[in-house]
Amino acid sequence: MNTLYNRHFLKLSDFTQSEIMYLIKLAIKLKQIKKNKKEIQYLLKKNIVLIFEKASTRTRCAFEVAAFDQGANVTYLGPGNTHFEYKESIIDTVKVLSRMYHGIQYRGHDHNIVKTLSQFSTIPVWNGLTDKYHPTQLLADLCTIQELCTQKYMHEIHCAYVGNAKNNISHTLLEAAAITGLNLRLVAPKQYWPDKKILLKCQLIAQKKYGTIICTENVAEGVKNVDFIYTDVWVSMGESDKLWEKRIQLLKKYQVNDTMINLTENEHVKILHCLPAFHDQTTIIGKKILNKFNLQTGMEITHSIFKKHSDTIFEQSENRLHTIKALIISTLTENNLVS
Ligand code: CP
Ligand code: NVA
Repeated sequence: MNTLYNRHFLKLSDFTQSEIMYLIKLAIKLKQIKKNKKEIQYLLKKNIVLIFEKASTRTRCAFEVAAFDQGANVTYLGPGNTHFEYKESIIDTVKVLSRMYHGIQYRGHDHNIVKTLSQFSTIPVWNGLTDKYHPTQLLADLCTIQELCTQKYMHEIHCAYVGNAKNNISHTLLEAAAITGLNLRLVAPKQYWPDKKILLKCQLIAQKKYGTIICTENVAEGVKNVDFIYTDVWVSMGESDKLWEKRIQLLKKYQVNDTMINLTENEHVKILHCLPAFHDQTTIIGKKILNKFNLQTGMEITHSIFKKHSDTIFEQSENRLHTIKALIISTLTENNLVS
């Protein structure tokens, strides 16, 4: 039996290093099997419910396609179209869902909600993003890093996360570094350094492995010789639009642009972005904010860098599907699929 069977996945550190590496290996195997059109369905007759209190493209589609590929059925519950928390408590809702489904995905605001769901659920609960963590994203990111650095151990890889380092992605990246030994530099102004408790806990764990985790305000020091630069939006879903002005003022020097790439002194540096990205004016928000603050070349990443590195970034997106598929198979069935 695989050790992930019947387990919740609320944060990356719910799983051990070997369990995370198992999921990544399985995801890479499932990706190959799908490409060869040789998929075996392990989730026939399973029912999965997806609760989304925030918008999503990748996470929803990855869960749905993973379920369809595996023969499972899916119900999507979008923002505002259930009784959840409005007319019916989280506890009552999850007790009902546990009797009808085999797994629950939840995306929302407060991390305590997904914790409550898991406490009263008799079936696995997967966190599809909260304000604090985005663990399924990091499975895909680690998978992408592994695919691009097949000859290296995680502790031989250096990644700089630049921009707003006080959000769900940076917090989960910290856990990823602590668990796998990936060397991580969080490059941001001090007020956007991560939650202190998460940072200290992860630094302590990382010390016992081979990896290092540091925070710096200095871009040149932060990105020098890194293998990867990872960035995310400066204002996350659910945060006020009023934050844009201050964030842009403080974070613009942390934009991924040609100057930053030159500072890496690594012509092979790879760029990661969880997406969506504000790199051009083809979206309503992108157009409004980029024009208002005179950011003609892009926001957290310039359009030209985004375009140049889009193969890696879209591979990272595709890997959401394969890693989520590995996660749902492993938590809903006893099968051990990696020898
Ligand atoms: N990266 C990510 O979670 O994308 P969605 O918001 O589209 O799900
Ligand atoms: N930090 C971003 C991640 C989106 C995938 C947000 O929460 O909006």
